[in-house]
Amino acid sequence: MRILITGAKGQLGHELARALCGHDLVLADVPTFDLLKPEAERFICNARPESVIHAAAYTDVEGAEREPDLAMAVNAEGTERVARAAAAVGSRLIVISTDYVFDGRKHTPYDEQDQPNPLGSYGRSKYEGERLARQACPDTLIVRTSWLYGLHGKNFVKTIMRLAAEQPELRVVADQRGCPTHAGDLADALARLANVPLRGVAHATGSGDCTWHEFASEIVALMGRSVPVRPITTVETRSVVPRPAYTVLGNRVLAGVGITLPHWKEALVRFVNDVQAGAPAMS
Ligand SMILES: NC(=O)c1ccc[n+]([C@@H]2O[C@H](COP(=O)([O-])OP(=O)(O)OC[C@H]3O[C@@H](n4cnc5c(N)ncnc54)[C@H](OP(=O)(O)O)[C@@H]3O)[C@@H](O)[C@H]2O)c1
Repeated sequence: MRILITGAKGQLGHELARALCGHDLVLADVPTFDLLKPEAERFICNARPESVIHAAAYTDVEGAEREPDLAMAVNAEGTERVARAAAAVGSRLIVISTDYVFDGRKHTPYDEQDQPNPLGSYGRSKYEGERLARQACPDTLIVRTSWLYGLHGKNFVKTIMRLAAEQPELRVVADQRGCPTHAGDLADALARLANVPLRGVAHATGSGDCTWHEFASEIVALMGRSVPVRPITTVETRSVVPRPAYTVLGNRVLAGVGITLPHWKEALVRFVNDVQAGAPAMS
């Protein structure tokens, strides 16, 4: 099958290229493919894919508060461009979205049917992208994931691994709960979804949930370090970026088609081992 992957140089994009390597792949990313430019639509139409996995995004949550118009242009208008092109060539479209579309006021896992209510610019731009994609391309599946980390690119796990080697003590937020997701596991799930004619919304995260503090403590323990990891509150971080307190996503739709991602602790063991064994340089 001819599959076009946007954001091919990102954390998830790299893993998608690996997981889908048996297919005829078209890898799209800046500078030759720019969601901000109308030519992005022509790029997709010329490639004539049967399926598009749209992983490219403006992903800097803090940056999105400083430049909300840019986040909206990339994540909403850019996604609409991708969806229009997919519809024009009769391609299926999978749009990768985020747990940050929810406000985090629940205390039980968010279902695919729950109403989004994003707190910040990043979540708003991604939710608008979801809406525009479904409007422009009838054969669209929105796949929401969370707390993503992969070997290629910056992420929480790599940051904690670096800080644990540099600092005498770590202070990590203990009042935000979610689902860490290994980009490789998500890519494997998306590769299986390539053959499943689902439409609408599906949540796809690592199994189980934790706070950032529990996540960091597990990373440090797996490294064999004894550096203390102190729990702090969101208020203590003095961040002005609104972050939802609880974004555990129930993966009901995926389970319905027999797909479950590994538990976050098991995935983390693999990841830390891979990094320690010298897998792609930590950035
Ligand atoms: N990371 C997370 O924790 C997380 C959580 C939930 C959902 N998601 C979603 O999962 C998807 C993949 O995330 P990720 O962590 O793999 O992201 P990533 O590593 O930041 O990769 C995104 C890719 O998109 C590219 N991009 C940015 N602006 C673009 C533009 N105008 N035109 C074309 N490409 C552009 C980036 O290029 P540059 O690097 O050059 O900017 C990068 O290669 C995204 O849709 C994200 O919203 C991520």
